[in-house]
Amino acid sequence: MNTSFNKLVYTKENGIAAIVLNNPSKYNALELDMRKELKTALEDAAKDPAVRVVVLKGAGGNFSAGADIRAFLEWTPEDALRTWNELGTSMVLSAIIRNMRKPVVAVVEGYCLGGGFELALSCDLVVAAEDAVFGLPEVNLGLIPGGGGTQRVSRIVGEKKAKQLVMLGERFSAAAAEKMGLVNMVVPKEKLDETVKNLVDNLLSKPPVALAAAKEAVNAALETGLSAGLRTELNLFASLFATEDQKEGARAFLEKRKPVWKGR
Ligand code: COA
Repeated sequence: MNTSFNKLVYTKENGIAAIVLNNPSKYNALELDMRKELKTALEDAAKDPAVRVVVLKGAGGNFSAGADIRAFLEWTPEDALRTWNELGTSMVLSAIIRNMRKPVVAVVEGYCLGGGFELALSCDLVVAAEDAVFGLPEVNLGLIPGGGGTQRVSRIVGEKKAKQLVMLGERFSAAAAEKMGLVNMVVPKEKLDETVKNLVDNLLSKPPVALAAAKEAVNAALETGLSAGLRTELNLFASLFATEDQKEGARAFLEKRKPVWKGR
């Protein structure tokens, strides 16, 4: 199935939903129309049982230069709150990504700034090309990140580095992002498609219910204290013993063959 929106391209094929931010002349800046379409596409991918993996990228060699700065000219605090509550990354888009029971992979090349970076950080895994340029430049606009940047980056890189990134607003390379743990892997641009395909194929080869539980358990680690997180992990672990795939996984191991997953 191919569904074209105005500001993004959404396709579903062979268990993979691909969402491409598509406004290259503005470096895929996250305009409100694009955010609405992104919300619709993410919701569709989340609820479609045929979709097993979601891939999010940008058209024209860049991921996204972030929120639409033009719109900010006239905003009041009330506008900011209302709009970000309805269409913001931290309150809405990342919640759909976090709660969907399948992996979401961000594929980053070129500029990945501000809200674009926050969107990539909301995904489960991030693959970057060597040319990717990251940054949270909001302070240079008299702002701070408002799509989860301060909270996510602090959890990944720790206080000192987070303050450096958020207070100085400087751009940094894909290599630096990888060193700080902000992306999973960095590959030469010409290897990006092949790397993403291998990663997606790898994810598609996993038992879907266990994959969803793995995502939920790690998400819980970011939301709760250790005791509550350990309880969540144990409950998820135990729940998997009710699945056919768990029995198949154990049986296939003992019979020295590849498991055949049923997704239940
Ligand atoms: N919001 C709205 N428009 C944006 C944009 C954004 N975040 N980022 C880029 N654009 C627009 C520019 O206004 C310009 O529009 P125009 O052709 O109508 O003049 C067009 O995209 C090209 O951008 P330009 O700055 O001329 O290109 P460049 O190659 O010199 O620089 C960037 C590219 C990405 C480094 C630069 O555009 C930039 O810094 N963007 C803003 C990044 C940012 O601060 N994001 C956080 C937002 S809170």
